[in-house]
Amino acid sequence: MKIKDNIILQFSLVTFIIIFAVASSLAVLLTRRMTDETIHQHIDFYPSLAKSFIGSDESELLKLVKTDNPIDRPQEIFSRFGKFLNFGAIFRVKVWRLDGTVLWSDESAIIGKNFPTNEDFLIAKNGILHYEVAAPNKEEHEYERNVKKILEIYIPVKIDNDVACVVEVYEEADILFEKIKSDTLIIWALVAVSGLLIYSLLFIIFLRAHKRQAGISKNLHDTQEAVISSLAHQAEIRDIETGRHLDRTTEYVKILVNELKNPPPKFKVRESDRNYLTDEYVMDLIKSTPLHDIGKVGIPDAILCKPGKLTDEEFAIMRNHCGNGARILKMAEEKLTFTSFLSIGIQLVLSHHERWDGQGYPKNLKGEEIPLSARIMAVADVYDALRTERCYKKSFDHKKCVEIIKEGRGTQFDPIIVDGFLQKEGEFEKISINLAD
Ligand SMILES: [Fe+2]
Ligand SMILES: [Fe+2]
Repeated sequence: MKIKDNIILQFSLVTFIIIFAVASSLAVLLTRRMTDETIHQHIDFYPSLAKSFIGSDESELLKLVKTDNPIDRPQEIFSRFGKFLNFGAIFRVKVWRLDGTVLWSDESAIIGKNFPTNEDFLIAKNGILHYEVAAPNKEEHEYERNVKKILEIYIPVKIDNDVACVVEVYEEADILFEKIKSDTLIIWALVAVSGLLIYSLLFIIFLRAHKRQAGISKNLHDTQEAVISSLAHQAEIRDIETGRHLDRTTEYVKILVNELKNPPPKFKVRESDRNYLTDEYVMDLIKSTPLHDIGKVGIPDAILCKPGKLTDEEFAIMRNHCGNGARILKMAEEKLTFTSFLSIGIQLVLSHHERWDGQGYPKNLKGEEIPLSARIMAVADVYDALRTERCYKKSFDHKKCVEIIKEGRGTQFDPIIVDGFLQKEGEFEKISINLAD
């Protein structure tokens, strides 16, 4: 079954995609937030640690970082911030002056160099404790070879609420990230389980609603069928000689319309007719077929049940059954707010006695002016009338019926539909026997 025809599959797919997208975005956001909070918990006291290294020596430090040539006095800087190298997993320290000059580092090659546009330094220079997660530079630094993650932490050192300098430390963060990794797994597992629960819940609710709706639709459908059947038999019950005419003509219409919808390779169906033949059209046509003589309810018994041939006046009254039937269905259709099978039913009821050559009734429509539904119905209706005994005629055998229909090709009947009939006449015969009165 195609996805577009399966509402449950459509719902499952769309819901799954939406929940998957929302859940993974949520998990990414939560992971980022958790990572940031874990790192901050770990480094938030670093500014006060830096201050503790300065001790009561604040004014001396201020002088030191503001002198014109402080790199001449690296030992004094080292004596203060070099203590970071003995703290935890910190393995590198850089001390920045506010103009971007590195005043001191254990990496002596960069002492005195100026990096005024370093973005991380600029953030810390504004008084914000800032960090970056970096991969170790294994090519350049032998000691970073066994490290997986490095935290580069930029610590603003404040004296009297003003940033005096920035201390940058590198810290091996493998243990910290192991913890972050296990917390990340927990977050993803929780989000995945919650997503699955919501999905299952929605699926169950949808399935129940769908089942209930399907039940209601089935009841409506069955009611509709029952009403159509009882309407159709209103006329049939008075016309005692028609017997199982409605059942048989419905079967004949089914055969013809399916033959036209799925024609064998050599059988060419008109393009204009093919466009009509959707699944919905076929369904509506079959549903409408039993109603084709509904208008006979308005024909007096004396005419409808008259044994023998009708006079011209009587036949003129009999012809009204097409218009009467169409009016009955139109009244029903006007009460509906949607397009129903009745639209096709009205065309079929009104025009099933029209002839291809324009000599039919009630409107003398000709050729393709006659709706396709009525052209199909005409062949099915006449075949059955010929094949069964009526009060005014004997029944013909199947062969004779086929001959008469063939003779009507292009005069009484649409030639293409007669061709369709000739392809399937064997099946017509079987139905005429199986559903005989
Ligand atoms: Fe009729
Ligand atoms: Fe009929």
